[in-house]
This record gives sequence, C-alpha cells and structure tokens, in this order.
Amino acid sequence: MEILFSVATDSYDLAVREIREEFGGGIRIERVSGDLGRIVSGGPSVGELAAACDRGRIIFVRHLTVELASFKPSEVPEAHELAELVLEGVPKHPQAVAVQTWTDGAGSGGSFYHLLEDALGARGVAVSRAGQDLVVSVFVSAKTVIFGLNRLEYSLSDWPGGRMRLARSDERVSRSEFKLEEAIQTFGLDLPPGGKGLDLGASPGGWTRILRQHGQEMWSVDPGALDPRVTADRKVHHVATTAGEFFRHNRMHFDVVVNDMRMDQVLSARVMLDAVPHLSRGALAIVTLKGGGKNPLDAARRGIDVLSKQYDVRHARQLHHNRREITVVADCP
Ligand SMILES: C[S@@+](CC[C@H](N)C(=O)[O-])C[C@H]1O[C@@H](n2cnc3c(N)ncnc32)[C@H](O)[C@@H]1O
Repeated sequence: MEILFSVATDSYDLAVREIREEFGGGIRIERVSGDLGRIVSGGPSVGELAAACDRGRIIFVRHLTVELASFKPSEVPEAHELAELVLEGVPKHPQAVAVQTWTDGAGSGGSFYHLLEDALGARGVAVSRAGQDLVVSVFVSAKTVIFGLNRLEYSLSDWPGGRMRLARSDERVSRSEFKLEEAIQTFGLDLPPGGKGLDLGASPGGWTRILRQHGQEMWSVDPGALDPRVTADRKVHHVATTAGEFFRHNRMHFDVVVNDMRMDQVLSARVMLDAVPHLSRGALAIVTLKGGGKNPLDAARRGIDVLSKQYDVRHARQLHHNRREITVVADCP
C-alpha cells in the first residue's frame, strides 16, 4: 500500500528526512510533484505514520492518503469504474464519503469531484467535500491522476491535500489570523469558556480577535499598535510593552497563552518558559516557531526541546498557512 504525503514544497526534503529518521533509512520514497511524495516501500502503515505526525514527531507532513490507483490523464477510466475502484477499497459499503480534489497547478481538479459525486451517488453513496469518516483524494497533474482513500482520522487534515481555505473578510486584521484558525480547527482545540488569554506579539491584533471569538478575555502584549477595531472591544487589554517587561510586573494567571512573536525559535520558546509562572494549571499554549535558517528541522526540534522542559507538547506541524515556521500546541501541566 503506497502512502501519499503532502508537504510545503520547500519542506519536502525535511519531511523525507523525518520519515526516514522515524521509521528507518531503507524506506523508498519518490517525489510525485512539488508538494506531494509517495512512500513506495518499506514504510509504516498509514495509521503509524499518522500517529507520528499527530504527536509532532513528524512536523513537515500535512496530509495523508493511501493510493488506490494512478493513471495517465488520457487513460483515466470511466466514472462508474472509478466508483468501483473506490468501493473495492473499503471493507463495507459506506453511506457517504468525502471527495477532495487538488492539482499541482492552477485549478482544483473539481471535475473529478462531480464525476465521482454522480457515479458514487448512483451506487447509493452520498458525496460531500468534508466531514466524513472516509476521504477519497484525487490529485491531478499534467502527467498523472492519482486516486487515494483514507480514513479521516489518519488524514491529518480534512482539506484537499491539507490545503485549508479560509474565507477572507474585511473584519480580518492580519494574515496571521489564518494560522491560528487553522491550528484551532486542525487540532480540534477547545478553549476554556470565559477564559483569560495572553497574546505575546499581538500587533496588529489578528490572533487576539480570533481568541475573542472563542470567548477569551484578552491581554495583548506588543510594543506595536493594535488595530482600532480590536481595541474597541472592552475585553481586549493592550499592554504596549515587550513580553519580558510584561512578566516583570504581571500578577494575573492565564488559561491560554499564544505567541506569534517574530524571533528565533529557541528565544521564542524561552519566552514561553518565562510565561509558565503566569499560567493556570492545564493552560493551553499555541506558539509559532519561526525561521530556521539553513536547517529548519533541527532548529524546530531545538525550539520544541526547550518548550518540552515545562510543557507537554501535544502537536507540532507546518500548517498550510505557515510560511517558514511551524505551529506547536502544548499544555502547561
Ligand atoms: C507576526 S507579528 C504578530 C501578528 C499577530 N499574531 C496578528 O495576528 O496580528 C509579530 C509581532 O511580534 C512582536 N514582538 C517581537 N518581539 C516581541 C517581544 N519581545 N515582546 C512582544 N512582542 C514582540 C512584533 O512587534 C510583531 O508585532
């Protein structure tokens, strides 16, 4: 069973290194396209790989599927045969499946969605784009069309190839907002109702805005300004200083701490250690570790090692909306 894994194009080599380090150097892996790789032989089961990704032991893989078949674009079978292919891959006739299509260039490969929607519909299987236990993946490029199938619980993301699309809107105050929303959705994070949140490196206020939507009263620390739409909210308290200075004077305890500060991974992780005395027991921490220089994997691991001194690291992943950074979710014991 060949497993297909999606990554950020720049992170392909890092993902391959992680998979080999975790499961053995003899694994045969080939590149299918910029952001897609295939484990050809000697690899783990998809469940084992998903578990390693979920625990943050593998950071740079964002989506998994198990290959059913691949075809040259001119040789893709008729729709009813494709439906057969999918149904042969499942132990028992499903009532519904998700179909997720993506390409290595422009477009979404959406025609395959409609093809499978009709053909599976004719076999009594409802098709939607997400929210089902079984996910059919269709990757389309000029050279190949690949069909995959996976259980959602082993897919890492309920979006085509892990490419989450979030609505743009005039209310958004920063592009960074997408990163936090993606982390909350992808990892299914529950924020404590009516909690107190600390946002380190908050300007211009995107993460603060999202956390307000999740019911947190926010203390937002950044020497830079917050967007007036964010400060207009009585439950947003802008503390216009650095994180270090804030900790010197603060006497409160927080249920959630987030950190999107632009600084080296290890320094940023150390700031998170400084935050610990200011957190409630069991507080949730979400932090982006940025940059990484020539060796982003080792740099990310160094940051995670520092965090692990005082947090239980739950997840670490390069999400779709991360650029040269990873997102770490951790609990303060
Ligand atoms: C990427 S921006 C944060 C964007 C924010 N999450 C949002 O959604 O609007 C990084 C911020 O970190 C802040 N920063 C860097 N070092 C800091 C420090 N030591 N203390 C507080 N803020 C810091 C910078 O001023 C900058 O505004």
